[in-house]
Amino acid sequence: MMKKKLFIIFFAILLSSCGQDYNSNYNDRGTYADIGIPPGDPLYTPYVILQNKCFSCHSSEWQNYKTSAQWVTAGLVTAGNYNISKLKVNLKNYSGGTMPPDPTSPLTSTELDTLKTWINNL
Ligand code: HEC
Repeated sequence: MMKKKLFIIFFAILLSSCGQDYNSNYNDRGTYADIGIPPGDPLYTPYVILQNKCFSCHSSEWQNYKTSAQWVTAGLVTAGNYNISKLKVNLKNYSGGTMPPDPTSPLTSTELDTLKTWINNL
């Protein structure tokens, strides 16, 4: 009897964890994860994009930059000028940079526009 109950509890936990597996779809990670930035902040959407497309290689430093000012201070973003921002200049497929972005999930034009709008409005 006891064993059956334990099994049911185990099975219930297993089932309930299915719907919350936010790492199973790489590109959906930012939608579910608590990224520590208020959804209304101009950095929110850009951060989710960077998290999904760049953090696989760059997370160790970049995941700590939770305000736009920190991206500027780090030298990755030039406030008000997307075109000369290191973030853009290094992207091989978009501006002749040397850095290899994830070939399995390049930035979409919508994502590039989001980054551009964020930086140009700083
Ligand atoms: C597959 C791994 C990988 C991914 C994914 C990746 N990068 Fe990089 N990135 C690198 C490597 C390696 C370097 C350093 C070598 C170089 O600059 O040629 C680099 C360097 C950079 C630099 C220069 C950093 C500095 O401080 O000088 C920037 C900016 C950059 N990447 C932006 C991005 C952006 C934006 C994304 C997401 C769209 C991204 N990277 C995704 C591997 C990656």
